[in-house]
Amino acid sequence: MSSADSIDSVLKETRRFAPPPHFSTDAHLRSMEEYERMHRRSVERPEEFWAEVASELHWHQPWERVLDWNPPHAKWFVGAKTNIAYNCLDRHIERGLGEKTAILFEGEPGDTRRISFRELHEQVCRFANVLRAQGVKKGDRVTIYMPLVPELAVAVLACARIGAPHSVIFGGFSGQAIIDRVTDAESHIVITADGGWRRGKVVPLKQTVDEAAEKCDLIRKVIVLERVGAKHAAVTMKPGRDLWWHELMAGASAVCPAEAHDAEDMLFLLYTSGSTGKPKGILHTTGGYMVHTYLTARYIFDLKPDDVYWCSADVGWITGHSYVLYGVLANGVTTLMYEGAPNHPDWDRFWSIIARHKVTKFYTAPTAIRAFMREGRAHADKHDLSTLKLLGTVGEPINPEAWMWYHDVIGRGRCPIVDTWWQTETGGIMIAPIPGATHTKPGSATRPFFGVDAAVLDRSGAEQPPNSGGFLCIRKPWPGMLRGIYRDPERFVRQYWSEIEGVYFTGDSCRMDEDGYFWIMGRVDDVIKVAGHRLGTMEVESAIVSHDAVAEAAVVGVPHEIKGQAIAAFVTLVTGTKPSDALRDDISRHVATQLGALARPEQLRFTQALPKTRSGKIMRRLLREIATSGQVTGDTTTLEDFSVVARLAEKDEG
Ligand code: WTA
Repeated sequence: MSSADSIDSVLKETRRFAPPPHFSTDAHLRSMEEYERMHRRSVERPEEFWAEVASELHWHQPWERVLDWNPPHAKWFVGAKTNIAYNCLDRHIERGLGEKTAILFEGEPGDTRRISFRELHEQVCRFANVLRAQGVKKGDRVTIYMPLVPELAVAVLACARIGAPHSVIFGGFSGQAIIDRVTDAESHIVITADGGWRRGKVVPLKQTVDEAAEKCDLIRKVIVLERVGAKHAAVTMKPGRDLWWHELMAGASAVCPAEAHDAEDMLFLLYTSGSTGKPKGILHTTGGYMVHTYLTARYIFDLKPDDVYWCSADVGWITGHSYVLYGVLANGVTTLMYEGAPNHPDWDRFWSIIARHKVTKFYTAPTAIRAFMREGRAHADKHDLSTLKLLGTVGEPINPEAWMWYHDVIGRGRCPIVDTWWQTETGGIMIAPIPGATHTKPGSATRPFFGVDAAVLDRSGAEQPPNSGGFLCIRKPWPGMLRGIYRDPERFVRQYWSEIEGVYFTGDSCRMDEDGYFWIMGRVDDVIKVAGHRLGTMEVESAIVSHDAVAEAAVVGVPHEIKGQAIAAFVTLVTGTKPSDALRDDISRHVATQLGALARPEQLRFTQALPKTRSGKIMRRLLREIATSGQVTGDTTTLEDFSVVARLAEKDEG
């Protein structure tokens, strides 16, 4: 399946699935008419709509105004004070739900834990006091680099409780990635673990933090959770800098009243890739983000008190922030966390988790579904998946074949599928079915959520007729929207609000069909989605160029059967350096150390020169074509000479 094939199959896709009647009967929202009515009201009178939703949550002080919209700057719930950790924990304990399971954890080695709202609350309070004792004050950025274990949730919620914005870094990123993020955030404290389990091996997180801290003296304190134990990870503790989590927790008080934070106080930074070499710190605030994730989780996953909800994303990504933690816990629903790989010890691990823990709602990425598909249905058929009521996907377009497989093999035809479109920048889901109401079409994220005014526009801002492609844009502010790029207000305006006058530019291409359904086609900028993970071409290029032997590099995304997209790199070497397989491996390894294994190029080709236009712009379209159609066969070390093609193509593009 190439992307061209999958776009064709999406265009031909005519299947349509009504919400299963047994599902609709009990759903929060039961019909398309109800959806239409609510959606209309939510975009026509957003302040009234969001105020009603917000009043279901706890506020230390009410708002004076729901929205201040000073394009492109929005403030939601102006003047209000709240605490999102209070809303995720204390609020439920006060409702008598203290003994209910908040986190259901399964480690990769098979260890399990059940943590009640009361226990989670206690740990969060203790850790909040630990942070304070280490000098962390409101507004201080705390870096978190941990495996997917309950203590990660504890660390995140403790930061939120005291108003110290967290910056979670995915555990697959490298030491250099930590340095870049710590430096941009000016963060002095890192919370990590001795290691985490991945495919039976230890990911040496503390060691990576050590490497970063050696080169980055901003890092003054490192709190280390013992996850894998000394037998599996040798950890050197640097006196005066490194502290054990359990030792600090043992001495900490469990009393920590939730502070009242301004609705517009920074809740977190999350670094994500864009069109430059350095990732940008997407800035989210408290009140609007809380209301948006709360409501989307409730309606799109149709959350009910007895749900066992599982989102397989890592908390290092926005999906983990919003739909492993905040949105789900704000609803008082049990969230399952699984530490490890989907294929450890075998390809049935996910289905075994669903069967053993009686998971009712499951949310994952298309890349995972395609990998399961390739391994065959027998892995799923071995397990009782009858507790499942709903399935979700996120992170990249899902091809109809994978959608159907998910629907038939995992959902056994009984479960509605919610294909959810959104971004790190949007904070919460923006386009998705309401499962008891929306008729779904395989490959479409369907209709906008409440309060979301989505449109397909051309460059001039004109709305496109049905079925002609354009840019996906959002025309009105929404509560969970990013409030900025950390320390770069100008880039915020340029990147999101200047491409098309007066609207939020998503960077995605899209078409809307005659029923008003959105079909997202992929990125139009320099962002690549490798297995759903967001990477910037420039980021990978600068990592490659930082290798001593490299003179210049260009990176493009190419279609990949399982990963959706993969990285193809074209590299020119410094004069006098001979290409070789060993050098190619060395450059790949270098990229992995600079960024993380997920950025390792799938193809790496040496070239004499990069095809460029007369003005010096790399002709990526050409490279993409070469990487997609020209198979990398035989001797991968051959030098390609693009000068001829470049000279020819200059005529069209120069
Ligand atoms: C893509 C992930 C098609 C899209 C939550 C977007 C999707 C980018 C979908 C954001 C979907 C996300 N269908 N494409 N359901 N969901 N995308 O910031 O290109 O990691 O712009 O946020 O992922 O990626 P991010």
